[in-house]
Amino acid sequence: MTELDFIPKLDNDFLKNGRVSYQSPSNIALVKYWGKYGEQLPENASISFTLSNCHTKTTLEFEEKSGTEFEFEVYLDGHREVGFEPKIHSFFERVVSYLPFLRKYRFIIKTTNSFPHSSGIASSASGMSALALCLLEMERMMSKGPMTDQYFAQKASFLARLGSGSAARSIQGPLVVWGQHPEIATATNLYGVPFTASVHTNFANYQDAILLVDKGEKQVSSTVGHNLMHGHPYARQRFATANNNLTKLMAILKSGDLESFIEVVESEALQLHAMMMSSMPYFILMKPNTLEIINRIWAYRKETKSKLCFTLDAGANVHVLYPHSEKDTVNAFIQNDLVQYCKNGEYILDEAGLGAVKL
Ligand code: DP6
Repeated sequence: MTELDFIPKLDNDFLKNGRVSYQSPSNIALVKYWGKYGEQLPENASISFTLSNCHTKTTLEFEEKSGTEFEFEVYLDGHREVGFEPKIHSFFERVVSYLPFLRKYRFIIKTTNSFPHSSGIASSASGMSALALCLLEMERMMSKGPMTDQYFAQKASFLARLGSGSAARSIQGPLVVWGQHPEIATATNLYGVPFTASVHTNFANYQDAILLVDKGEKQVSSTVGHNLMHGHPYARQRFATANNNLTKLMAILKSGDLESFIEVVESEALQLHAMMMSSMPYFILMKPNTLEIINRIWAYRKETKSKLCFTLDAGANVHVLYPHSEKDTVNAFIQNDLVQYCKNGEYILDEAGLGAVKL
């Protein structure tokens, strides 16, 4: 597939108006995407668990209009959010050649997140994938022939990627790879693909508790952070290591070796933050409580032989990952020991899921 495969052939019989809704989840990367080039293309392959409970629901209302400007309004929880509009505007500009009907409609985009807006959980993956799915559903309604489910999933991910890189991994589940990789024939920089190699039952319904350490706006956005990988002294080494870690993880996912899983996943999280600390300008997104939680996790693992581990996004929150078999014990550990490090004692229990659904 190339970009050209995503330029549609539409019927002239355009829709007058209508609405379409999708629910799309967030995801948590095990091997991280940090560094991009060209138009939202990743410098290395990444893999993530698609989540279940953290999701965005978006309804797109559309009505035919004249003129060639993009026209849309965005509502979050029923309130107009002009703050989101520049990001959506640049998304429309990026995708208009693949969705040529965008200029013909006035859109109302109504969106809600299952997680609190101020939680510090990135809503760009779930939000951009939900919007991409709604727009592609419109295209499906106007398409000449039928669209296969595979093409739909690939193009939805392709469009979502142009909104936010990690959103490419939110369409399907439970494990999605984005970025070309020598050992995964179907993997591509253009869109995310489900990880279809064999996966041990140890990883079925993997648990992810998101501990909300800092709920404020990030001081440095992901986009700025990605850009700082250009000319970063360790960039080449980092991209090679990430691809290597994905190779290691493939064997681990097959064998069910949880000790090695922990090693790769925690090392990936710390490397991501090490890249931030060693860019110019440098920055630190972890907070004291991020480190407290990491240390408590390490101590608990030593004491109990539990197989829980942590990972981090581009922020201070900690994702605690653990097998479904440890759900009750680790949930109790979080409630008894880790909750004190969470802002207002807040955390979200989630688990790996199957991706977006049409509403
Ligand atoms: C640290 O997808 O938010 O979460 O493409 O600029 O929108 P943009 O960046 P974004 O970057 C996320 C990076 C990460 C790691 C990951 O999810 O792989």
